[in-house]
Amino acid sequence: MVDFDFTEEQLMIKEAARDFADKELVVGAAERDEKEQFPFEQVRKMAELGFMGMMVPPEHGGAGLDTVSYVLALEEISRGDASAGVIMSVNNSLVCWGLEKFATPAQKEKYLNALASGRLLGAFCLSEPEAGSDAVNQRTTATRDGDIFILNGTKNFITNGANADVLLVMATTDRTKGAKGVSAFIVESKFPGVSVSKKEHKLGIRSSDTAQITFENCRVPKANLINEEGFGFKFAMMTLDGGRIGIAAQAIGIARASLDASLKYVKERKAFDKFLHEFQAIQFKLADMHTNIEAAHLLALNAALKKDRGERFTKEAAMAKLFASKVAVDCALEAIQIHGGYGYLKDFPVERYLRDAKITEIYEGTSEIQRMVIAREVLDLR
Ligand code: CAA
Repeated sequence: MVDFDFTEEQLMIKEAARDFADKELVVGAAERDEKEQFPFEQVRKMAELGFMGMMVPPEHGGAGLDTVSYVLALEEISRGDASAGVIMSVNNSLVCWGLEKFATPAQKEKYLNALASGRLLGAFCLSEPEAGSDAVNQRTTATRDGDIFILNGTKNFITNGANADVLLVMATTDRTKGAKGVSAFIVESKFPGVSVSKKEHKLGIRSSDTAQITFENCRVPKANLINEEGFGFKFAMMTLDGGRIGIAAQAIGIARASLDASLKYVKERKAFDKFLHEFQAIQFKLADMHTNIEAAHLLALNAALKKDRGERFTKEAAMAKLFASKVAVDCALEAIQIHGGYGYLKDFPVERYLRDAKITEIYEGTSEIQRMVIAREVLDLR
């Protein structure tokens, strides 16, 4: 069950993120979205605040905080700008977490310190043109040649892809073994043979960067293998469990932004000689939005608490992401409805919230995949 008693530290982190979001992210978010401009300056400042490696211990360059603090901060950051939210989420959940947990001391020294402190940016390369939901179907190969693995293949939809310094890459070392033939590697984006083959133009989270990355005879030292050969799929799945808490938090941030914009609008706008908030039809919408956001928040905190306690949290993370992403889309749609014709225009932020919200139902496992994960656990099929 959720423990509502946040520590002073957790509340301070939330406040710091809230303050930063209001002062540094809200302004300019629409322009960055329009121009597809990566928020370099904002990410640099987020790193200064310790937000790029929140759960990594200080000895490895991080802030040494818990997952609950991470959720609280990421909700606020995403309320300010969901693009900044996903950049932060990927670096924390999908890159730093796995290195903290499974990298060798030498790998941590070389990569984790710089990633957690925000000096370097990370990306997670699992999806491929033919391996999205069916993530086992990896076509990227890693062929052993003495102390080197040679990578060949293409990775799709890679968040931070064009700007990342360090890529965690899943590739098959033995296709006959299926999931057990996938291995994970730390690849520097400057290694010869790594290239950004396409920059994507998206419906939402447009100021975050999404790219296709190609590996062509890219030679990766065996020293950059994570854990052991064949560990890559489990590594990816465990990493994504934590990632899904991050995307739930991102979705909650977008939903909160939609509610905040609506609350402001209904107190300013009049119709039939009454303010909008005086109409019960509007009040009911706001009540539903608020209730669903609270429920999503509690699901995300529940998953975070379980993770912090070292308990299994696969189902809880999937439930949080499944529910929060739907709440984000629903709240953004309701916010547009409340704004009427203005909600459809770029003059107000709510159309962006809808575009940003939609991806939370797709990446880091679609809602259908989350239902599969939850159903397997509920039916005890694991
Ligand atoms: N934790 C630990 N191990 C796990 C696990 C988990 N959560 N989930 C699966 N595994 C293990 C299984 O136990 C199994 O190992 P054993 O054989 O030793 O038991 C192995 O992994 C294979 O698992 P499955 O048999 O369950 O594999 P599957 O083919 O049925 O697929 C799936 C499972 C849940 C559908 C998985 O493929 C999946 O999650 N797909 C979605 C992929 C996804 O989320 N992609 C997101 C891309 S990253 C992204 O979006 C990031 C970004 O840039 C924002």
